[in-house]
Amino acid sequence: MQLSSAWLPLGICLLLHPNVNFDLAQGAQILGIFPYYYGSPFLVVRPWIEALVQRGHNVTLITPDGMLPDMEGVRHIRVQKLRERIQEFIATDHFLDFLINKWKEANLAATIYFNITQDILSDGGVQKMLSDKSERFDLILMDPSNLDALYGLVEYYNATLIGLTSTSINWFIEELAGNPAPSLNEPISQIGYSRDYSIVSRIRNWIHINEEKLMEYLIILPAQLRVFKRFFGYSTEKFYELRGRYSLILVNNHFSLGKVRSNVPNLIEVGGIHLSQRPEPCDESLQKFMDEAEHGVIYFSMGLDIMVKFLPDTLQQTLIMSFAKLKQRVVWKNELFNMPNKSDNIYAIDKAPQRQILAHSNVRLFITNGGLLSVIEAVDSGVPMLGLPVFFDQFGNLRWGQLAGMAEVLDINNLNVDTLTKTIIELIENPTYALNAYKISTTFKDRPMSPLDTAVWWTEYALRNRNISHIRLNVEEIPLMHYYRIDSILTFFLRFLLIAGSVIFFVSVCLKNYTSLGLGYRLHFTLSIK
Ligand SMILES: *[C@@H]1O[C@H](CO)[C@@H](O)[C@H](O)[C@H]1NC(C)=O
Ligand SMILES: *[C@@H]1O[C@H](CO)[C@@H](O)[C@H](O)[C@H]1NC(C)=O
Ligand SMILES: *[C@@H]1O[C@H](CO)[C@@H](O)[C@H](O)[C@H]1NC(C)=O
Ligand SMILES: *[C@@H]1O[C@H](CO)[C@@H](O)[C@H](O)[C@H]1NC(C)=O
Ligand SMILES: *[C@@H]1O[C@H](CO)[C@@H](O)[C@H](O)[C@H]1NC(C)=O
Repeated sequence: MQLSSAWLPLGICLLLHPNVNFDLAQGAQILGIFPYYYGSPFLVVRPWIEALVQRGHNVTLITPDGMLPDMEGVRHIRVQKLRERIQEFIATDHFLDFLINKWKEANLAATIYFNITQDILSDGGVQKMLSDKSERFDLILMDPSNLDALYGLVEYYNATLIGLTSTSINWFIEELAGNPAPSLNEPISQIGYSRDYSIVSRIRNWIHINEEKLMEYLIILPAQLRVFKRFFGYSTEKFYELRGRYSLILVNNHFSLGKVRSNVPNLIEVGGIHLSQRPEPCDESLQKFMDEAEHGVIYFSMGLDIMVKFLPDTLQQTLIMSFAKLKQRVVWKNELFNMPNKSDNIYAIDKAPQRQILAHSNVRLFITNGGLLSVIEAVDSGVPMLGLPVFFDQFGNLRWGQLAGMAEVLDINNLNVDTLTKTIIELIENPTYALNAYKISTTFKDRPMSPLDTAVWWTEYALRNRNISHIRLNVEEIPLMHYYRIDSILTFFLRFLLIAGSVIFFVSVCLKNYTSLGLGYRLHFTLSIK
């Protein structure tokens, strides 16, 4: 009696904290490497890292200087070079090459990845960490992009490896995860990739993806191998073996976003993980502007990385003229406050609290470039979209929205005031868009666990189960013969041939007997007539 009442408070504590983990005391040493000087990945990574720190793990983060504020309980190693590189890169017009030619793009990408991995591994802070013999890591977290030289760290620390992608999944990630689903393969670059299912397009797309694979193997990986050998000195075989070491890859996708796919068990969908972060505050004047919008609000943003000043002047004028014709109010994420000719229904704001705006009950439409995080936020709030895609996965993200009936897409290079205005009005006045958006939003949110809890649970699963052979499908271990079921197909044909052969044989034997019988009979008959 005494004992049970003494245990009662603890029991209540445990009931109130269904997430209590008895392993909490054994926090793991975690190393995260997120090298891109670019906002979106950190929106996805940050809640995950914060949750892991809260669970008692010790986290060290390697990031570009100036990208992430200091986080409690995290040791930061900030790489100065990563920030300078990107500034140099934007200052030159290298990046224009990106949009022109795939092979040029691959060459440029190889140099960028080469520079990034080299900058990280030669950084003073990282070198100090590497030479400190007391340093150990149980787990390494990475963006599964082309930073293959860094897999040397996985061997160096004998650590488990987990990836987290902030963009859409493509063939490259499938390959790292060991997911052999060629029919679902998405390209990395969308230039020249078509989305219809005619036989010609399929063949062209197959060539497109195989070209990307060739570029990967001929240009990007050899450059990574050089960095790998220089800093770790392991063999070429080790390099290729380490690429198959991902225990899990967390992908920023959810099947309700129209990408139903056959995933191996180590591909975990955590789409919407960034929504667990508290949204940015909405200032009073913006709140008032939206509250008082009697005909509703349109929110327009080209994402974190496309500044309005980069948009051509004619496009800006088209947008301004079109918005002036609407009775709705427009909130425009725009760093240029003094737009000439701006009508009164436009509210320009540099740092828009996007999630708060989308969640506002007066918002009727989101005009977006279709970055994955923006699309997820629009889905979460059930807001129809007008897409103006510019590059990478944006076309695919928005095309899905269009097929799902919650979006329309226009070509940003051929935009005119009439079409734009007409499309906006259609999206707002035809109720099916809002209805579809609402339905998708409901399915998107209906899950057994939040995406953040899913990510944390699987991260700790990977720590508990360090031998990955039970969760990974190693495609190279499946002979082509089995993979395409050539053996079963051959067996089937063999059986078929055997049966068909026997039938033919028997029939022919019977026929032969019959004819020889007939012949004998006739012979006998003629003989006896004679
Ligand atoms: C985490 O780091 C702190 C401070 O460096 C250290 O005292 C503690 O032992 C570490 N925890 C684990 C589980 O290694
Ligand atoms: C890569 O690094 C080299 C040497 O520091 C530099 O000359 C080059 O411009 C860099 N390339 C890119 C694309 O950053
Ligand atoms: C690497 O880690 C595994 C799993 O924790 C362990 O069984 C193995 O002994 C370690 N290998 C070395 C060389 O430390
Ligand atoms: C403002 O609008 C007028 C007429 O609509 C146009 O002629 C003029 O060029 C615009 N001014 C600017 C700075 O775009
Ligand atoms: C991992 O598990 C598999 C199958 O259970 C076993 O064959 C293999 O030796 C294990 N690997 C290690 C490094 O323990």
